[in-house]
Amino acid sequence: MPEILPDATAEFARAIGPDTDEIIDEMDAQADAEGFPTVGPTVGGWLQLLARMVSARRVFEFGSGFGYSAYWFARALPDDGEIVLTEVDADELDQAREYMRRGGFDDLTSYELGDAVRTVDDYEGPFDAVLIDNEKHRYREAFEAVRPKVAEGGVVIADNAVTAGPIDFEALSALVRGEDPGDVNEHTTGVADYLDAVGADPAFETALIPLGEGIAVSHRVA
Ligand SMILES: C[S@@+](CC[C@H](N)C(=O)[O-])C[C@H]1O[C@@H](n2cnc3c(N)ncnc32)[C@H](O)[C@@H]1O
Repeated sequence: MPEILPDATAEFARAIGPDTDEIIDEMDAQADAEGFPTVGPTVGGWLQLLARMVSARRVFEFGSGFGYSAYWFARALPDDGEIVLTEVDADELDQAREYMRRGGFDDLTSYELGDAVRTVDDYEGPFDAVLIDNEKHRYREAFEAVRPKVAEGGVVIADNAVTAGPIDFEALSALVRGEDPGDVNEHTTGVADYLDAVGADPAFETALIPLGEGIAVSHRVA
């Protein structure tokens, strides 16, 4: 796995980002103890900031885990906002429910147990911010399912745009640059396929934020 940023720079980025609160600190401690792959605090701060920058009212997440990324988004939402959490693991979703309740966000939040790519069909748009953080080989499927529901001016954020446990960065980089990397696992081709699709979509402008495990931020411009 590549080191995206030297430790000193990562710590610096974390210090500059929005403050955490005691619930985020507790979630960070849980993630550390369990080795659970949250987006982490520097990306969390960006999710909050991006939601504020687009004046987000409605957010949809593909893959919410125990609610870490959702909690950061929720801090930027107005009182009449909405965030949809999706998760295939009932225990994770129960924990998310408890963290969101403790943060005072329960009234904003819908909790959906099951496949996010199916669940999104049950919701009307528009969504102002979308997080794609489900199975890597299904990122493109998730994007295509939510694409018609992304508001103009909204953002789609894909986590693990650079790395994650099974992603082969050398191969991903080769694919993104149009080279043939040889044998590649489906997680790596999934992220490359997603970046290719969203990058070629004339309705979106995409750029990378190389923090955490890398997020691709795609702004809907048409
Ligand atoms: C990398 S974790 C990240 C969770 C969260 N976004 C965070 O930052 O803490 C991905 C989560 O997505 C869930 N997941 C995977 N595929 C899914 C799917 N198709 N629908 C809903 N959840 C899914 C997994 O169970 C896991 O909890």
